[in-house]
Amino acid sequence: MIKFNKISRSFIGDEVETVAISEMSLTINKGEFLSILGPSGCGKSTLLNVLGMLDSIDSGEFSFLGNSVDKFSEQQRARLRKLHIGFIFQNFNLIDELTVEQNIELPLYYHNVAKAERKRLVDTVLKRVDISHRRKHLPAKLSGGQQQRVAIARAIVTSPDLILADEPTGNLDSKNSTQVMELLQQLNQEGATIVMVTHAPEHVIYGTRVIELLDGKVITDHLVKEKPNSKVGKEAVGVDSKETDSTADQAVEVTCG
Ligand SMILES: Nc1ncnc2c1ncn2[C@@H]1O[C@H](COP(=O)(O)OP(=O)(O)O)[C@@H](O)[C@H]1O
Ligand SMILES: [Mg+2]
Repeated sequence: MIKFNKISRSFIGDEVETVAISEMSLTINKGEFLSILGPSGCGKSTLLNVLGMLDSIDSGEFSFLGNSVDKFSEQQRARLRKLHIGFIFQNFNLIDELTVEQNIELPLYYHNVAKAERKRLVDTVLKRVDISHRRKHLPAKLSGGQQQRVAIARAIVTSPDLILADEPTGNLDSKNSTQVMELLQQLNQEGATIVMVTHAPEHVIYGTRVIELLDGKVITDHLVKEKPNSKVGKEAVGVDSKETDSTADQAVEVTCG
């Protein structure tokens, strides 16, 4: 689905140049749920913004669903983003003046979906994230966990192929975090490809693969493999990054987190 070949992205400051992503090569396959770990400032958000075509790159090749994004204009990238990608942020980013259902309906306007169909789709996702009873409320009247569920509903109402989440549980308590992680896992199991930045190593078990970044580079790349009879159900299974392949079964076990 996504192929990065030696992608770099730097930010020029007053005196220094910060290299946020450094000649990164990375392949993400359809159906994966990739977690991204790494210390603050290592380039996680930049990577997610580049993947979501919210940010541009300085050099390298970037292919998304067969499109050579590195050669695309801003307008072409925006079109691709709108068609295929849903975003979830740490701070929910809901529009304060709009009700829950209006927030969720908004992307459907941009997709020129007719009114009756908009209502049907909004009803479906409201039920999906279990927030129908709050549909007429403004975001400020909701708890953090409820706001994040609304944000997820908004991200998935257009049925995106790729969901990008930047620390989606960063502002949530553990109960709400678990609820959000279970929801993301279900969406992945139903076919959505997910890329999630997280501060919480314990959350990688909900995904299928985990990479660790340092100084704008991928330093580890592990599969997360179903483990029968495990209470949590899954455990990280490590393979050397060069050998990593999402279908690799010969992976060596390592402890996770
Ligand atoms: N818009 C920007 N302007 C200048 N520097 C930036 C910008 N965005 C990110 N950076 C720098 O790039 C590096 C990586 O940032 P970021 O991707 O936000 O890291 P993370 O999400 O892992 O904390 C940091 O050193 C950060 O200060
Ligand atoms: Mg960040």
